[in-house]
Amino acid sequence: MSALSAGSDKFEPPKDRERLALVLDLATAPRPADLACRAGAPSDKEALAALMLDAYRGTVDYDDESLDDALREIGHVFSGSYGRFLPDCSFVVADEAELSSACLVTLLNEGKPDETPLLAFAMTRKRDQRRGLASALMLRSAAALSGLGYSRLSLAVTADNSPARRVYDRLGFKPRKTTNE
Ligand SMILES: CC(C)(COP(=O)(O)OP(=O)(O)OC[C@H]1O[C@@H](n2cnc3c(N)ncnc32)[C@H](O)[C@@H]1OP(=O)(O)O)[C@@H](O)C(=O)NCCC(=O)NCCS
Repeated sequence: MSALSAGSDKFEPPKDRERLALVLDLATAPRPADLACRAGAPSDKEALAALMLDAYRGTVDYDDESLDDALREIGHVFSGSYGRFLPDCSFVVADEAELSSACLVTLLNEGKPDETPLLAFAMTRKRDQRRGLASALMLRSAAALSGLGYSRLSLAVTADNSPARRVYDRLGFKPRKTTNE
């Protein structure tokens, strides 16, 4: 459930999986639809970990991780392991005590020539998938990033993760390079 591509100096997903680097030109991103959401925050850590486990379980990116593993992974997002967490560009949909969907964005390689906002995690709990939540949250993040002057949003996705790739494709993400080559 790691966010970065192989070759990064931070967290690496299992090397047996091909990862694709995608990038969205924020100038071409569709405008976000209306959606009741709020900013994601470190206080959501436990709820985000539960969401992560529900969303990833049974997917190609799930390796029998436990709730503790998910908590650690979310902790990495907030502690800056993927670059500085951008709270104003990260959104969640909350439903009663739980989260339905989340889009967490960090700033990778801050201050360097290859600085880029990174979509660290997009996830929707199983029973709320295919309702447009992840797409809507990503477009909210794209609009927020654009408002702050950023021009692109990067991410890494496992090549076999077809649901995620379809979402990214529909939103206009384009391949940047293939990793694990
Ligand atoms: C990828 C993910 C975040 C999509 O969340 P979502 O809220 O269902 O996304 P949306 O409803 O905005 O999806 C829009 C499109 O994505 C595609 N899609 C979403 N879920 C899909 C699925 N289970 N199977 C096939 N296509 C899917 C479809 O094209 C869908 O449009 P459609 O329903 O009109 O066909 C969700 O499936 C998820 O949490 N997966 C596990 C975590 C993960 O892999 N995250 C991405 C890591 S890079």
